Amino acid sequence: DESERTERIERALDELGDDVLVLGHNYQREEIVAHADFIGDSYALSKRAAEADADHVVFCGVTFMAESADIITDDSQTVILPSMEASCPMAGMAEALQVDAAWAEITDAAPDENIVPVTYMNSYADLKAFCAEQGGLVCTSSNAHKAFEYAFERGDKVLFLPDKHLGENTAHRLGMEDNTAVWDPWDPEGKDASEVAEADIVLWEGYCQVHERFRESHVEQVREDHPDANVVVHPECRREVVEAADVVGSTSTITDTVAEAEPGETWAIGTEIHLANHLARWHPEVEVLPLCGDACMDCNAMRQIDPNYLTWVLEELVEGRERNVIEVSPEEKELAGVALDRMLEI
Ligand code: 13P
Ligand code: SF4
Repeated sequence: DESERTERIERALDELGDDVLVLGHNYQREEIVAHADFIGDSYALSKRAAEADADHVVFCGVTFMAESADIITDDSQTVILPSMEASCPMAGMAEALQVDAAWAEITDAAPDENIVPVTYMNSYADLKAFCAEQGGLVCTSSNAHKAFEYAFERGDKVLFLPDKHLGENTAHRLGMEDNTAVWDPWDPEGKDASEVAEADIVLWEGYCQVHERFRESHVEQVREDHPDANVVVHPECRREVVEAADVVGSTSTITDTVAEAEPGETWAIGTEIHLANHLARWHPEVEVLPLCGDACMDCNAMRQIDPNYLTWVLEELVEGRERNVIEVSPEEKELAGVALDRMLEI
């Protein structure tokens, strides 16, 4: 039962002491974040892993996050993902092999132009490595606009992957929303060479099914039902939703926004449901509402991190066995590291 499992996790953590650091993404369920040494957004967690002395980092999040942690931690540290099934569907929408094939078509469409690929942190290490090789870089939801500026200083066009909504929101922020084209690798008619030739920003047809669900009508409804409500959303939401919101930002920004709210304020949260629920629990003085009520979703990748798996990987570590190790190959590590370093420079 749950209390027995909690005891087993705590016992294992006691035995492992400083050898292990447990990281929990903001979207993890309550029983997981309860055991985390640090809770945060995807990039903050990787940075935290790199700063830690622990030999083992148990990353309660999704594969691309654990890969990023492996890239930026030193070789003596091992990154463990409690379930190998925890893979972000959006990251899977831009596989390096597929992007490599599309790259030939996209560069052929604009032969005289230099195209710089920019990939969102929500992508696999091999795609980050591909971007580095082509002169591009990685970005997070907080610095995408700076990554675009970096790319335009070095090239004529940006190819942004995999999240078309973050790409569109960033184009809008830079006043370039009319200069975009979408490249849809799944649709023969979604790959228009003349549109690519004309556009400054080419957006890959990828999206997050959790964030795509939010509509402008949800924002209108919440404002109608709660006239004092403020709305904070993640930039993976559609552009209309982002524009209708009061604040937009990463899961850390969302968390900080509610933490800094005055008692009695109302905040509607446009992101994964577990974070909305954590915020309601952590800040009872603030009225926290999920932006689309009962229709708000959990992330099926994050959900794979079941507390039983956390128990298993920790108890195996106590026995000296490392399970579910996430290890990026040395070549990819080096190149993906270049793409991440370029982001740090901006
Ligand atoms: P953050 O980097 O803002 O934590 O977002 C990660 C994510 O997967 C959003 O859906
Ligand atoms: Fe991926 Fe969306 Fe889940 Fe974030 S919420 S991990 S982008 S599927």
